Amino acid sequence: MKLPILIINFKAYGEAAGRRAVDIAKAAERVSRELGVNVAVAPSHLELALVAQSVGIPVYAQGADVESPGAYTAHVAVDNVKEAGASGIILNHSEAPLRLNDLARLVARARAAGLDVVVCAPDPKTSLAAAALGPHAVAVEPPELIGTGRAVSKYKPETVVETVELVKRHFPDVAVITGAGIESGEDVEAALRLGTRGVLLASAAVKAKDHYAKILELARPLAGR
Ligand code: G3P
Repeated sequence: MKLPILIINFKAYGEAAGRRAVDIAKAAERVSRELGVNVAVAPSHLELALVAQSVGIPVYAQGADVESPGAYTAHVAVDNVKEAGASGIILNHSEAPLRLNDLARLVARARAAGLDVVVCAPDPKTSLAAAALGPHAVAVEPPELIGTGRAVSKYKPETVVETVELVKRHFPDVAVITGAGIESGEDVEAALRLGTRGVLLASAAVKAKDHYAKILELARPLAGR
């Protein structure tokens, strides 16, 4: 995983459904190219293959089920998202939380498949536990700030700082990123100043009227770091 990183999670937003996912991903690709920064996009499973075929930036899956490929109706296995073109995966998002044993298995399987692995956690201690599972990065995201426009880097800086300190001390190879409520370039800048190596965000980019302009603003603080 190339750091620092800006990851744009499309969630299940209508603004990022179908061909619209490709449009946002192309805007992210243009920003990545122009600024020379790593911008990844995480479309829904439905658009994963289409987006992966359409852009050259990293495309992450929003998650996966723990079952292997096989007779599991409506499940999506790690191997399936890899096959669809994903180069990374987000696990344990607060909107798709996992049981500990399943999370451990998924992290191991995703790493074995060669995917970048980002595990989300709501607080510093859970982030430390998540780091112990061996992902490339943990994303600390206080759930109460998600989608509010109240940035974690400004409204809960102590959560970010504590997570960075804990994870760095015990698992120096695991990067800490953060997200929730990140809305502006200033919010991203603040997150980096707190010691993170990137940001995971959704609504600010996906719901923007001008995707290119907004992603450019959000990614600019990563340039040259
Ligand atoms: O996955 C990112 C996310 O949970 C934060 O969402 O809309 O607050 O940027 P948002």
